[in-house]
Amino acid sequence: LFAAEVEFLKGVVAMDGLPPDDRPEVCFAGRSNVGKSSLINALTGRRQLARASNTPGRTQEINFFTTRGGPYLVDLPGYGYANAPLGVVEKWQRLLKDYLAGRATLRRAFVLVDTRHGIKPVDEEIMTLLDRSAVTFQVVMTKADKLTAAGCDKTLAQVREKLARHPAAYPEIVMTSSEKGQGLETLRALIAGIG
Ligand code: GTP
Ligand code: MG
Repeated sequence: LFAAEVEFLKGVVAMDGLPPDDRPEVCFAGRSNVGKSSLINALTGRRQLARASNTPGRTQEINFFTTRGGPYLVDLPGYGYANAPLGVVEKWQRLLKDYLAGRATLRRAFVLVDTRHGIKPVDEEIMTLLDRSAVTFQVVMTKADKLTAAGCDKTLAQVREKLARHPAAYPEIVMTSSEKGQGLETLRALIAGIG
């Protein structure tokens, strides 16, 4: 995942706009503002590759990035964001769910969870959808830099307990900070193993 080897391919607003499913892909899902786009930028060492911002609802399309010889990286719109017109939110959420449930080449969904907040009911809903669709998912804790080690451990315990009830959950949880670089090597290695 070297910076020069990752490129933006396209932003997709409907299922019929998805690129050909000719290679494996991994996606980054999670609540609005959890840090999906920032994590893709940190992983690829490209600060402005995926648009990140402090305003929830920043990513409104399914953004595809190509990696040389590896899987597509897919940046998803956030879920659980109520502050946009209802019709718009419903459209993104429908697309997000159709994508997660119906993409044959989706090899792993990274479900990002804010280390300060833990797993919320909307996360559970997405995890249940992934269970039903038999899409292996792996929890990536974000913004670990905002908590003490004890705070991180507390959330980890909650996450472990909840994951035990999800058959599609991969047991290893990755603790990350896009800001400080924590966990990035681990994630890169996981992604390389999928490519
Ligand atoms: P949507 O596209 O709206 O769903 O959001 P997103 O999940 O893509 O979040 P994004 O990457 O845009 O980040 C949201 C905010 O969190 C930004 O202000 C980031 O700077 C901040 N942020 C992301 N990752 C980290 C992190 O590891 N540490 C800290 N301290 N802040 C972070
Ligand atoms: Mg985003």
